[in-house]
Amino acid sequence: MSTQTEPAARVTGAGSTWSDAIVYEVYLRSFADGDGDGVGDLPGLAAHLSHLRALGVDAVWLTPFFPSPGHDHGYDVSDYTDVDTTFGGLAAFEELVAAAHAQGLRVLVDVVPNHTSHRHRWFRAALAEGRSGGRYRDYYLWRDPAADGGPPNNWLANFGGPAWTLDPASGQYYYHAYLPEQPDLNWRNPEVLAEWVRILELWLARGADGFRIDVAHNLLKHAAYPDNPELDVPTDGRTPVGRVSAARRLVRAHDVDQDGAADIFAALRAALPLTNAGEPPFLLGETVLDDPDRVARYVAPGRLHAAMWFGAQNVAFNAADIAAALEPGARPLDPGAGRYAWFLSNHDRARPASRLAEDGADRLAEDGAARLGADRALAVAAVLMVMPGPYVLYQGEELGAVDADVPVDLARDPIAVRAGEAAMARDRARTPMPWTAEDGRGFSAATPWLPHGQLPPAGSVADQSGVPDSHLERWRSMVAAWRAHRGTLPTAVEVLMDLGLVRVRRGPLTAVLSTGPEAPLPAGTTLWRSLPGDDDVVRPGETVWRLTEGRSR
Ligand code: GLC
Repeated sequence: MSTQTEPAARVTGAGSTWSDAIVYEVYLRSFADGDGDGVGDLPGLAAHLSHLRALGVDAVWLTPFFPSPGHDHGYDVSDYTDVDTTFGGLAAFEELVAAAHAQGLRVLVDVVPNHTSHRHRWFRAALAEGRSGGRYRDYYLWRDPAADGGPPNNWLANFGGPAWTLDPASGQYYYHAYLPEQPDLNWRNPEVLAEWVRILELWLARGADGFRIDVAHNLLKHAAYPDNPELDVPTDGRTPVGRVSAARRLVRAHDVDQDGAADIFAALRAALPLTNAGEPPFLLGETVLDDPDRVARYVAPGRLHAAMWFGAQNVAFNAADIAAALEPGARPLDPGAGRYAWFLSNHDRARPASRLAEDGADRLAEDGAARLGADRALAVAAVLMVMPGPYVLYQGEELGAVDADVPVDLARDPIAVRAGEAAMARDRARTPMPWTAEDGRGFSAATPWLPHGQLPPAGSVADQSGVPDSHLERWRSMVAAWRAHRGTLPTAVEVLMDLGLVRVRRGPLTAVLSTGPEAPLPAGTTLWRSLPGDDDVVRPGETVWRLTEGRSR
């Protein structure tokens, strides 16, 4: 029997401490407000660690808390060495780490190495140095205008408009994959790597156990900056993710995922010291790529420990789609390679309870549809969980949270506010955590920075806690079952799909998901199931975990 405070190292089997860990993503601005200003912060999180402990997760990923002008809600960092006072300052970070460690939770710091804020001292220095350059000019990517005076090539920014902005003083353009306020760093300059080693060392010394690495696939751009090929038909809204529709009309041939990008992580990993607990720091990359083989390059031996595979982000609730998203994780791994990290949601995507409510539809009309979507999301999470590699759980997913309808005048995401694509806005998944059903939702007594969304169909944390078979209690029981068994499982896994059923077989554990028919279960005993009941079958929309004797592969 596992206990909630047992560190992951002792409960995971083959592979590293993190192989089958559950990482909980805290979107700090919206988790819990400790100082009453309407914005979530580190003291607020520290006061709610018992929620993570009761859920049984192994680690917490903190979204960026560094000083930032906030054009992209903290993903535009003006000082990587400090903690913004909005989030409680450095002392609050140190207290949070101590409290988390005391409860057996590891802490992942979200770092943003692809770009800085335009207010970062490196970029200010680069501007001041001008086109003749100095140390800092070459920290960023500068090009002369095209012959017509316009941007040097046709690359587009993910949040709208060209990916180049003119610096009138020097007459040169600088490159930004996101907003003009987020200039990209030049990772071909070894000084940039050296700076980042120092930054990561600092956070390790302050108690971090590892890092979530923002847009890890983005760090290198083609050195000659050729135009990207244009698509005849823009890709649809499902893929690639996280960018405005206009930016989807180009093939991302030359501005992301360039050869050599994954080697940067080998250099970084080799340079880092152990954590204060004497472990190798965990490196979890955000790799927003459509091709799992491209993602696999980032977890080749010596590189990242885990890389997020976005395959399950777009699945409809049908067995073929789900099995196709899982399949890459069943391919044999090189010894020493890292893993795909599995997830259904994050702060950039629609909530899975909404996405999965009606196949392909994003929005929900009725409570019943929301419950169905939440049940389906749990069923899909239960097959992802069994795959080798960490599961990353986004705050609210454990409640069955649904997308919020944020009115346009209260929208905050630059995708809505700057690019005018309200339908794409990520605010829908960023509204405050509903701790209670009361007016302020137990989040804050003040007006929150984003309005509260509708409550999950099963209610707030307080409404669901201790209620048998509530969404939250089913999540808790799944995690407890997982913690008790994951250490006994081999790394090899088999994914089978047949007539509306997905089967994931990992040694003695078989997860069976039905997206269609009721079906018999494999011989054995039921360890856990996603819907209430004790039938001897898997029902439509359900995942059942069976322990089958004598089966190991
Ligand atoms: C990542 C973050 C997203 C951010 C972007 C630019 O995708 O998850 O929130 O806007 O990077 O830093």
